[in-house]
Amino acid sequence: MAAGLCPCWALLGGRRGALRALVRPARGLAAAKETHFGFQTVSEEEKGEKVYQVFENVAKKYDLMNDSMSLGIHRLWKDILMHKMNPSPGTLLLDVAGGTGDIAFRFINYVRSIRERQLQRKLKHHQNLSWQEIADSYQEEAVKPLGDSQVVVCDINKEMLKVGRQKAQHLGYSEGLSWVVGNAEELPFDDNKFDVYTIAFGIRNVTHIDLALQEAYRVLKPGGRFLCLEFSQVNNPLLSRLYDLYSFQIIPVLGEIIAGDWKSYQYLVESIRRFPPQEEFKAMIEDAGFLKVDYQNLTSGIVAIHSGFKL
Ligand SMILES: C[S@@+](CC[C@H](N)C(=O)[O-])C[C@H]1O[C@@H](n2cnc3c(N)ncnc32)[C@H](O)[C@@H]1O
Repeated sequence: MAAGLCPCWALLGGRRGALRALVRPARGLAAAKETHFGFQTVSEEEKGEKVYQVFENVAKKYDLMNDSMSLGIHRLWKDILMHKMNPSPGTLLLDVAGGTGDIAFRFINYVRSIRERQLQRKLKHHQNLSWQEIADSYQEEAVKPLGDSQVVVCDINKEMLKVGRQKAQHLGYSEGLSWVVGNAEELPFDDNKFDVYTIAFGIRNVTHIDLALQEAYRVLKPGGRFLCLEFSQVNNPLLSRLYDLYSFQIIPVLGEIIAGDWKSYQYLVESIRRFPPQEEFKAMIEDAGFLKVDYQNLTSGIVAIHSGFKL
């Protein structure tokens, strides 16, 4: 598995060429078709480029903005996603629209802690182990803390991945982690490859959600699991009014103050309102072929985790 950015990046001829190749309407769809970018109507090609620009602009301040806008609650939502996944050592995870690596780092921490617990249990149950044997077991664990688990972070945006890689370096994550430039609608991976596919706060930015879901299905192994964490529809009327007020009046202002970018954060808020509600999205996941599809609302439906299996 590639340990760095996908080599296709270099072949695509730098940022402009790469951007056009990555965001072009997938699989020969007519370029003139219209879609939405937040509340604006734009061509599909324009949407891809505009979404790219949004994340290129915010990449360096993305993590800070996430914490500020959600008062840190996005961390809790991501932890819940990880507990729902409950990966075991050996799991191969593809995190699409993985951006700055939040899901990947959680995955690594989760698998490491399971392996540590397994090692402690194993050593406790062995009688008469020498100090050398115990030290060797810990040494082995230190060399391969994830065992055979791996996570691939795939994102269309080179800048988001760059920030993610710097973060990984700073936090000391390298084992079992790779970064690949790729479009969720046309993933650069073989069929039946991954045990789990995650996409967190990514799918609403994709131009053809149905294609992204089909791709998720394709790259998962039979028995594999799809998990999506995304903004959804608030089911409490009072909270819904407060949330609207906060979203439209405060978030773009925070975007301007923290990231110097009102428009990107206005898009963020608008894109949330355009995303299909829980039941509709569940039906789309089923249409892609997934079975046992369900969802869990978090924070009264501000976000939802959808889950489905390739069976
Ligand atoms: C809101 S960020 C989420 C990042 C990360 N998953 C998280 O939860 O913090 C959305 C990400 O989706 C990526 N993205 C948008 N369209 C995409 C596409 N078609 N294929 C892959 N990634 C895409 C953006 O580049 C951006 O990094």
